[in-house]
Amino acid sequence: MSDTFSSSSVVPDLSGGKPWTSDAPVRSTQVALPPGMVHFGIGQPDFNLLPLDLMRRAAEHRLAQGNPYLLNYGAEQGDGYFRQALASFLAARYRQAVDAERLLVTGGASQALDLICTLFARNGDVIFAEEPSYFLALRIFADHGLRVVSLPTDDEGLVIDALEEALTQHQPAFLYTIPTFQNPTGVTLPESRRARLAELSRRHNLLVVADEVYHLLDYGAALPAPLALYADDANILSLGSFSKILAPGLRLGWIHGTPALVEKIALCGLTDSGGSLNHFTSGLVRSLLELDLLGPYVEGLKTVYARRAQALSAALRRELPEASFDDARGGFFLWLTLPEGVDTPDLLDMAQRYQVGFQPGVSFSSQGGMRRAMRLCFAFHDIPALELGVQRLRQALDDYLGNR
Ligand SMILES: Cc1ncc(COP(=O)(O)O)c(C=O)c1O
Repeated sequence: MSDTFSSSSVVPDLSGGKPWTSDAPVRSTQVALPPGMVHFGIGQPDFNLLPLDLMRRAAEHRLAQGNPYLLNYGAEQGDGYFRQALASFLAARYRQAVDAERLLVTGGASQALDLICTLFARNGDVIFAEEPSYFLALRIFADHGLRVVSLPTDDEGLVIDALEEALTQHQPAFLYTIPTFQNPTGVTLPESRRARLAELSRRHNLLVVADEVYHLLDYGAALPAPLALYADDANILSLGSFSKILAPGLRLGWIHGTPALVEKIALCGLTDSGGSLNHFTSGLVRSLLELDLLGPYVEGLKTVYARRAQALSAALRRELPEASFDDARGGFFLWLTLPEGVDTPDLLDMAQRYQVGFQPGVSFSSQGGMRRAMRLCFAFHDIPALELGVQRLRQALDDYLGNR
């Protein structure tokens, strides 16, 4: 079974080319991996799957239109034609209508989060976040001086009873949640909990910021709709991104929310001064959407990632039977829990000697917990590297436990 895309006119066949690695002498990407290292901690797409050819075609198509508006400041909410194309793309996948007027173009989910902190919270405010949660969102909240009150999760995601209870004690600026294929746990919030969450948002006037960057990467699982679609009138913002379904270097995403919330964001100082948060790139991606190139590309990615996820699960069951985890139904990650007595930050020190890395669970905890857990990403490396990495993890764990 091939681990790369099958060749077609749409998805690149990169299997014959020189694989790209990240050990270039001058840094130009965020990842700087020592040669030979297998790092399960990198939550990014494989360099070899990035859509160079598609972006070349999109750029040629867009620039050939001869429209100078592409190079001017963009409309504050984002280019209307791009938003219409995006709304159709999303509606086909959500199987529900999406109103382009409820979409706002961003420079990715990270920038959206930062802007939401600026506009909806003040230094010292309390916000709610899941325990565990995406560690770099926690950094953005820290940059804004926000105090995180963490809420428990279980195998269906955020525990809504705990949220209801917490709302009797705090008035948070907002709740940050990752409802679909959560980072790090991979868990998806079911329909019934989404409906209750929307109801609580209405009743308590609670702003819910739903980070849904993995929503379009399902591996066959039937999914509930993104949270914004539960909220005709509730204060819910869903954050989407092209980082996981196209390319993170594009820095392009969207916010989906009620007209009032979208208007508040669209009229902020940042867009008043700078216009659309990523106008030129949204024009290129508009071409991908209009030429119907994005859908097949995402389908190709899903096939590759689903195979990688399966291969990683199988290798872990073989080599690390003491670890417990659920198979991935979408997204980028497996979340492993190791037996009592293993401290994954310590294990990481040992693992690095075996040329393997991972994200220790404590990174995702706002309380210094989750020390027996680790997050493994199956998107960045191909299947042989994933299997090699698991063998190295086995050796590192044996060494750590004094078994050798
Ligand atoms: C949950 C979550 N939110 C946001 C991001 C970053 O998204 P973007 O590249 O759109 O800023 C990531 C990337 O790892 C993520 O996992």
